[in-house]
Amino acid sequence: MERSHVCARGVRGAGLAALLLVGAVVACGGEASAPSAPAATAPTPSARPSEPPSPAPPPTLPTGNLRGNPELGGRLYAMYCATCHGPEGRGDGPIAQTLVPRPADHGSAEYMRTLSDEEIYLVIEKGGAAAGKSPMMAPWGGILNDSDIRDVIAHLRSLSGT
Ligand code: HEC
Repeated sequence: MERSHVCARGVRGAGLAALLLVGAVVACGGEASAPSAPAATAPTPSARPSEPPSPAPPPTLPTGNLRGNPELGGRLYAMYCATCHGPEGRGDGPIAQTLVPRPADHGSAEYMRTLSDEEIYLVIEKGGAAAGKSPMMAPWGGILNDSDIRDVIAHLRSLSGT
């Protein structure tokens, strides 16, 4: 008598712990999709024209001018960002002392020149974890829409004159 007891268990639960303080939706990113099985179907020798080898597209990168209206962005910044980043982006908001690592000085032109608008956009939309930074920087994509993020970037840039 054979008994195949297959229990399909998904891999899950990684990384829940670190994100408790952040009251935002956190996607369980970084799950590798199944590796491509070598010729599982039929051994057809002639290949199809040209299929792209990598199925994972890059995150939807924004295009065009990423700097919107700095005044509108300033209001959003004061509302959502200053608690950690400080009113002038110096990394000295009331919560900043509790953060490890602490937010960088976004008033520093030297530092801000190392970041492209695209990188900044990505961090704001998808969170620090998506860019190899602290998950305490939450993804704001569910709260700020594309135009909001561009406004915030314009404001952020004005803090350092970059
Ligand atoms: C709960 C605290 C918190 C809030 C609120 C917050 N951030 Fe952050 N943010 C951080 C931390 C901490 C980092 C640093 C991550 C790192 O360096 O690993 C960070 C990093 C960043 C970065 C990456 C730039 C860099 O220093 O490399 C940008 C851009 C940013 N935040 C923008 C924003 C904006 C815009 C908002 C508001 C919409 C916001 N943050 C709200 C904590 C916060």
